[in-house]
Amino acid sequence: MAEKNTKTITKKLTDLSILLEISKAMILERNLDTLLDLIAKKTREVMTADRISLFIVDHDASELWTHIAQDLEIKEIRLPVGKGIAGYVAKSGDIVNIADAYKDPRFDQNSDKRTGYHTKTVLCAPLINHESKIIGVIQVLNKADGIFTKYDEELLVALCAQAAVAIENASLYKEIELSFKSMLKTMAAALDARDPISAGHSERVAKYAIALARAVGFSEEEIKIIDYAAALHDIGKIGVADSVLLKPGKLTPEEYNAMKQHAVKTKDILEQVHFARKLRDIPSIASAHHEKLDGSGYPLGLKGVQISKAARILTIADVYDALVSYDRPYKRAMTVDEAIDVLKKGKDTSFDPDLVDVFIKQKLYLIDRREFQRVNADLTMEYTVITKDEVFLSQPKDTKLLNISAEGLMFFSEKFLPAGTFLDVTLHLPEINMNVLARIVRVARMEGQNKFELGLKFVNLSRATKDRLNKYLVEMVEQ
Ligand code: C2E
Ligand code: SIN
Ligand code: SIN
Ligand code: FE
Repeated sequence: MAEKNTKTITKKLTDLSILLEISKAMILERNLDTLLDLIAKKTREVMTADRISLFIVDHDASELWTHIAQDLEIKEIRLPVGKGIAGYVAKSGDIVNIADAYKDPRFDQNSDKRTGYHTKTVLCAPLINHESKIIGVIQVLNKADGIFTKYDEELLVALCAQAAVAIENASLYKEIELSFKSMLKTMAAALDARDPISAGHSERVAKYAIALARAVGFSEEEIKIIDYAAALHDIGKIGVADSVLLKPGKLTPEEYNAMKQHAVKTKDILEQVHFARKLRDIPSIASAHHEKLDGSGYPLGLKGVQISKAARILTIADVYDALVSYDRPYKRAMTVDEAIDVLKKGKDTSFDPDLVDVFIKQKLYLIDRREFQRVNADLTMEYTVITKDEVFLSQPKDTKLLNISAEGLMFFSEKFLPAGTFLDVTLHLPEINMNVLARIVRVARMEGQNKFELGLKFVNLSRATKDRLNKYLVEMVEQ
């Protein structure tokens, strides 16, 4: 008898320590799917039973869902609340202990029929949150020996209490992370709206930066920091005056100085955001994207190792994209080779040479391959200028195009048209005429001539029209 008692106490102590271990592990796990796996695995360990199912209540749908591994695939199973034993527990909140499932009317034999499993004993308890709401159910099937005891019930209830807290935390964390991400996206979208010509720049910079960070062995946590810092590196441009930010031509030294303030403004803005401890470095990394290795950069003129590796990655990604983006209003895009040359020439003075080497050797610049081919084509167009107050016709017939892509085009004009002007354009393609709305994003006076080079960006082109135009242009060059 004494021996049995000792055994029981030993088992209870072991269970208790496993329970403690479980609750620690569970509180630390923030990924909901991983957490649910962990709970199921640990429950099997303490309960010495054959099968564990963890159901989550979807209150909106009045359903329970669970993930099961089947044929190497994770499948989601859904059950109506109220059906079966788990459904009963989800509805009533009772704990159910059944010695012989087939004798219990609540048991749904269909699931055994489908899976070929034979259920005998069942122990099922609810997961209840701090608001006394039932958020899920843990179902334990077929105890290794005998039937589930009162002690098993207590153990499962204790486990469910911990699991409920952990699940609530993880769900909350997921929600916070989602709302945090959507806030960052909103900020980036606000910049795109102010400066539509460079729209998409930050997103592409993030792609290059993530690729480079991964290539040099950054952890996923560090890559997340790079991702956010890249997405927001130019957010300070929101605080730069329109006359400078949207200037179609070269900046004067004063204007360039005003522009340089964007790096500091990025930091000021991001410091207003509450970042979790692990993400605290985002404002300083983002703000350092114009620092140069030799100390000639801005805003602080940091040198060498004073510039974090993350910031050095951002710099390379930023400059590369700025160089190959053809939609800058004040200068044409470079080719990939020209851009790579700029990076090579800037090794040691501006850019981290090792990072430049990895970027080039591993061809990481190909990650955001331009989706739209630019074509030098012997085409003509006509246009109508659309102003705020009137639509007046000015249709120079047979205006020669310089080049065209499915994103926009360039042409020469003897007439000056300010950036921002909207045009209704008819493109004369060999077999069809296409009508598109476009906006002037680039105006440059030709050296020594009374002639302008104008850049147009198509506005509101549907995906289908873009694809059609792109395909058409590509076919044309290939012929
Ligand atoms: P951005 O256009 O996104 O360019 C980011 C950085 O890429 C530039 O930082 C510069 O380091 C590099 N970069 C861009 N284009 C070239 C180029 O043609 N050659 C070389 N070697 N490097 C290039 P930077 O110079 O500090 O400029 C910061 C931002 O200031 C630019 O961002 C752009 O928004 C604006 N900006 C700079 N110069 C002009 C300009 O002449 N006119 C206008 N309107 N804006 C300018
Ligand atoms: C500069 O103004 O420093 C040149 C940068 C550029 O052309 O974008
Ligand atoms: C996150 O880790 O993405 C969000 C954390 C936070 O709320 O700052
Ligand atoms: Fe910048």
